[in-house]
This record gives sequence, structure tokens and C-alpha cells, in this order.
Amino acid sequence: MSNIVIIGAQWGDEGKGKIVDLLSPEIAAIVRFQGGNNAGHTVKVKGQQYILHLIPSGILHEGKLCLIGNGVVADPVVLCQEMEALATQGVPISPDRFKISYKAHMIMPYHKVLDQAREASKKDGKIGTTGRGIGPCYEDKAARIGIRAADLVDTALLREKIGKALQEKNALLQYLYGSAPLDADAVLAEILPAAQKLAPYLADVSSALQDCVAKGGNIMFEGAQGIHLDIDHGTYPFVTSSNTVAGNAAAGSGVAPSALDRVVGIVKAYTTRVGAGPFPTEQLNEAGEYLQQKGFEFGATTGRKRRCGWLDMVVLRESSRLCGITDIALTKLDVLSGLETLHICTAYEYKGQRIQYPPQLENGMAHVTPVYETMPGWNESIENITTWDALPENAKRYIARIEELAHAPVSIVSVGPGREQTILR
Ligand code: GDP
Ligand code: IMO
Ligand code: MG
Repeated sequence: MSNIVIIGAQWGDEGKGKIVDLLSPEIAAIVRFQGGNNAGHTVKVKGQQYILHLIPSGILHEGKLCLIGNGVVADPVVLCQEMEALATQGVPISPDRFKISYKAHMIMPYHKVLDQAREASKKDGKIGTTGRGIGPCYEDKAARIGIRAADLVDTALLREKIGKALQEKNALLQYLYGSAPLDADAVLAEILPAAQKLAPYLADVSSALQDCVAKGGNIMFEGAQGIHLDIDHGTYPFVTSSNTVAGNAAAGSGVAPSALDRVVGIVKAYTTRVGAGPFPTEQLNEAGEYLQQKGFEFGATTGRKRRCGWLDMVVLRESSRLCGITDIALTKLDVLSGLETLHICTAYEYKGQRIQYPPQLENGMAHVTPVYETMPGWNESIENITTWDALPENAKRYIARIEELAHAPVSIVSVGPGREQTILR
């Protein structure tokens, strides 16, 4: 085994949670390295569903160390709620198996208010954020006025930093967005119970990972969102506010880049996107409806309907180039059962040329025309199949074509949300 980076190769919700859970038995520590509680990672075990927003999806396996790295932005109140919800579901969380980096930035109530006020004020060009305060929190990190997990244990410092941050935020809220200013003491009171609860969980995550490797353990880096939501490489400005690419697993958790051995790209057998932004293979028709309904495509964090369309190999090619995908885990193949013809986008037409990678100009993706090839589908339901040989021939052909176009092997095929609904090759 080796250290593995898990990334979503599309626009998020590829099924990262399921695959992280599946691979966890071979792993000693699972660490989130970017994003925050905009993520919603679903794991289904023995009929029970768990939705993780901040806690790594390895938490259902006893004895695995689960970590929140420095690159994450975490809402302390949401994190406490998530810990309580897991405990209610029979997964108690304790400081010996869950740790938060001292350096992780904390989402404050004013980040959420600003995120929502900014979106509401836009007439057009709304990003369709999750409204969880992700962007404003990363802005404060870059502006060097952020609040880090380490600050939670120093109430006087916390109060001072909140006060300073609010000078600027309240000006924006009152004069630009026409909403009520926030009071520093009220903000402090809102987060103090969570701050106190989280104090025993604070740790040097970089050292914890180093110790784990020294003992011969392997690390799994759990990506959130998807490569095309990356702040630099995604469909800017319709992106999230962190780097989702595999390279950020090192910076966002405090390990050397040489520690990243394998990169597993999680690929949904078709494409979905939540929120606004270009989506070349989107199907605003019966096929799209079919995928949305059969795939039960609703956002795990906001409950919004996910937009649906055909598999886009241009998107995948770019993710592979940016992340060095060594293996593909193909998910939701079962959803394609019953479709007579499958379409795969292999290239784009753009300004009279055929291109293999997304255009570089801002919003260029909004002006491409997908070039499709078609393949025959299959009718059989495949959700109970657990061996490669038992798959319908046309499903095998579809996978083989993906491998050919992506230049990477499909090592895992997922045919349902359950742990056991998986084919390992
Ligand atoms: P993540 O954000 O990448 O972890 O993905 P989400 O959990 O947001 O969305 C994936 C959804 O698909 C979840 O509801 C999973 O339970 C479900 N899922 C995962 N793999 C499969 C699969 O192979 N087939 C089906 N039908 N559902 C799946
Ligand atoms: P997981 O980890 C799908 C999208 C939002 C919006 C854009 C910016 O479950 O795959 P933000 O709140 O991050 O500022 O919103 O990014 N988005 C996701 N879409 N899955 C996610 O996470 C997402 N996290 C953010 O819908 O379009
Ligand atoms: Mg999700």
C-alpha cells in the first residue's frame, strides 16, 4: 500500500465519501486538506446513511485516525453538530481518533452572513455558493485577519480578533449590502460553546501524519469538491475558494509532496454540477431528468437539485493532467442501466477548432460545443453485481472506452451507494 490522494475529477459529488470509506481499512490516517462544510460526503453502511461535511469519511472504521488539516476552513458550530450527530448514530468521537490542525481557519458567523448577502445582492452572475461562508473565510486567511483553531482556546484574543474583523465586515454589511451590523460580543457568545468543546481536539496535524508514517502507516488525503471547482484551474469564477487539485494535499495537511504516492480520481459515470457555471454536456431534456431521478441527484449539503449530463472526457483529461490520476474509481454505473444509447463527450468545438482541453479564457467553457461519440447501453440492473465478469458486455465496453480516453485504469467500479456494491479489479 501507499499514501493515496482522493480527488473528485468533475464538479463534486462523484462519490468520494463512499470510496474513502471503502479504502479506509488499509489506511492508518485520513486527512481532509481543503474546503470546508460546503462538502457533503455520503457513506452508506448496512442501510444506515452518514453525511460527513468536515469529519473525514474514514471515521466509521474503528482505530483510524481522522484529521482536519491546515488547509480546511471549518465552522466550529457545524463541526460540533456533526460530532453529536455521529455519536447519535453510534459513532462516538474522541480526541484520540479525531484531531483538528491548530492552523485550520474557522468560519465565523460573519463569513456566512457575508457569503449570503453577497449572493443575494447579485442580479446576475450568482455563483450559487452553498452559503456556508467558505469564500469569505478564505478571504480573511489571505488577508491575514483570519481566526485559526488555535485561537479558540484564548478567549481574550478571540474577542479582539472578532472585533477587528467586524470593523471591516460591518462596513460592508451596512453600507454595501444594507443589512444589520453584527455585535462582537454576540458573535463570541455564539461560538464560545463550540470553541470550548473543540479545545481538546486541537493538534499539530503535520506531526501526527509524520508519526503515522514513521510507524509504517499509510495516509489517505480526502479531497472535497471537484477539480473543475478549483479556484485556479476550475471554471472561474464559478468555482469554490480553495485548490482542489491533488498537489494541495501536501500543502493543506503539512506533508512533503513526495509523500503523495497514488492519486485516485473519483469519476461519476455521467456528470453533475450544483450551483451556477458552464456545463457543456448538461442535458436539459429527458435524459438529464432520467439521470437526476434515477441517480437521486440532490446536493448532500443544500438539498438543491443537481444538474445532470453526459460523461465529459475533456473534463476528465484536464483533471488527469492536473492531478496525475493513477487510478479511476467509476461510480454510479448502475444509474446508466436502462438507457438505450450512452453519449461520451471526447472533445470540444471552440472558435472553429477542435480542442482536447478546456479553453483558458474566463468562462470559455460556456462557449464550447461538445463532440460526442455514442455507445450502446444495457438494460439489466447491475446494482447487485460484485464481479467484473458478471457485468453486461456493453457496460464493460463503456468502461474500456473510458480507460482508453483517460489513459488510466478503472480499478474500482461502484454500482450502488452501499459498501458492498463495489467491484474491485
Ligand atoms: P461526494 O461529495 O463525492 O462524497 O459525493 P456525495 O456523497 O455528495 O454524492 C454521491 C451520492 O451518490 C451519495 O448519495 C452516495 O450515497 C451515492 N452513491 C455513491 N456511489 C454510488 C453508486 O455507485 N451508485 C449509486 N446509485 N449511488 C451511489
Ligand atoms: P463535495 O465535497 C458539489 C459548489 C457550490 C457552488 C460553488 C461555490 O460534496 O463534492 P462555495 O460554497 O464552495 O463557495 O460554492 O461550489 N460546491 C460543491 N458542489 N459538491 C461539493 O462538495 C461542493 N462544494 C461547493 O454549489 O457552485
Ligand atoms: Mg457531496
